[in-house]
Amino acid sequence: MSNTPHIVCVVGARPNFMKMGPVVLELARRGLTPVLIHTGQHYDDNMSRVFFDELGLPRPDVYLGVGSGTHAHQTATVMTGLEDLWLKNPPDLVVVAGDVNSTMAATLVATKLHIPVAHIESGLRSGDRTMPEEINRLVTDAVADLLFTTEASANEHLAREGVAESRIHFVGNCMIDTLEAHRGQAVAAEPWKAFDLAPGGYGLVTLHRPANVDDDGGLRAMVTMLEDIAETMPLIFPVHPRTRSKLGERSATSRLRCVDPLPYLAFTGLMAEAAIVLTDSGGVQEETTALGVPCITMRDNTERPVTMTDGTNILAGTDPRSIHAAALDVLEGRRTLIGKRPPLWDGRAAVRVVDVVEAWWKRQPVSRRAPRRMSR
Ligand code: UD1
Repeated sequence: MSNTPHIVCVVGARPNFMKMGPVVLELARRGLTPVLIHTGQHYDDNMSRVFFDELGLPRPDVYLGVGSGTHAHQTATVMTGLEDLWLKNPPDLVVVAGDVNSTMAATLVATKLHIPVAHIESGLRSGDRTMPEEINRLVTDAVADLLFTTEASANEHLAREGVAESRIHFVGNCMIDTLEAHRGQAVAAEPWKAFDLAPGGYGLVTLHRPANVDDDGGLRAMVTMLEDIAETMPLIFPVHPRTRSKLGERSATSRLRCVDPLPYLAFTGLMAEAAIVLTDSGGVQEETTALGVPCITMRDNTERPVTMTDGTNILAGTDPRSIHAAALDVLEGRRTLIGKRPPLWDGRAAVRVVDVVEAWWKRQPVSRRAPRRMSR
C-alpha cells in the first residue's frame, strides 16, 4: 500500500447519511475506499440502518454507539471514542458533513491530533447562536482544512470570517447527488398509495427543532395549526423521536396522519409529489428546491438562503398564524412558487469533492505520503 491516503468518514445522525453517502461511494470508486465510522448519535433502525440499506452504503467499519444525552455528554462521548481510535491509528484525512454534534466532535478531535479535516456543507450560517447547529458550524469551519460549500452565501460567510480562499471549495450539494440518484426509484414506488392519497393531493410535514417542539404549549399550538391546514389538504407527518417524546400518543386527526419516521425512499417519493411541504429541517428546504416543490419553512431564519432566492422556499416564521397564512396562500393559488436549481446542484458534487481531495493529497509532502501501516 503506498501513496493511498487513509481516509476516515465520520457520520452520526440521519442528515449526515445522504450528504456523506455519495462521497464514500466516489472515494471507493477511485480506489480510495475510506474507513466509515458511525458515532451512533442516531441509533433507531428507522433513523439510521434503513438509510445505509437504501443508499447502498457499506456497513460502518466502526460503530461507537454513543446514543442520546445532553449536548456536552453526547459530544464528549464521541470525542473520547474517536480519540482512542485515532491515537492508535491516525488517519491522513477525516471527512465530516453537516452540522450535527458528531460533526463538531470529530473535527475537534482530529484537529487536536493534527489530522486534517474536510467539511462537507461548510459555511452555512443562520446567524442564530441559540441553535446548537450554528455553534457546530462555526466551530467546525474555524478549524477544518478543506471547506466544501454548497451555495454562494457560504463562501461569503467564510471569507468574512477570515478563512483563506485556498481552503474554500465551491462544489455544490452532495445531498442533491443522493436525491438525483434515487428520486426515480422513490417516485416509482408510489409511496402515497399507502396513505390512500394521490400525487399532488397531500402535503408533507417535518418538525423537530428544539425551538419548535421542546415547549409543550408551543408544540400544541403548532399541531392545532397543522390540523387546520389539513382541513384544506391532508397532511402526512412522519414524527421525529424528539417530537414524539413531547407529543405523546396524540396522533391528531384522520387528515393529519402522524406516522413513524420514514425511510429515505418513501420520504423522497412523498416529497417529490407533494402539493406543499412544511418543515423546520435544513435539508428538506434544499431537497424541495431541487424538486421544485413549494416549501414553507417554520423557522425565523434559514442558513440556506439560496432556497429562497433561487428555489421554492418561503420563510414563514414560527408563529402558527403566519405559517397557516403562508400555507393557504400556496394551497389556494394566491402564491405560486417557481424556482430554479441553484448552481452546481447537479448530482455531481461528490465527484468535485473527491477531485479536490485527490489534488490535496498530491500536494502533501512525500513524508506524509510514505507507505504506512494498514488502516482497516
Ligand atoms: C439531530 C441534529 C439536527 C438534525 C437532526 C435530524 C444536533 C445538535 N442536532 O437532532 O441538526 O437536524 O438530528 O434528525 O446534532 N432519538 C431517538 N432515536 C434516535 C435518535 C434520537 O429516540 O435514533 C431521540 C432521543 O430521545 C434523543 C432525541 O431524539 O434525545 C434527540 O436526538 P439528538 O441526536 O440529540 O438530536 P436531534 O433532535 O435528532
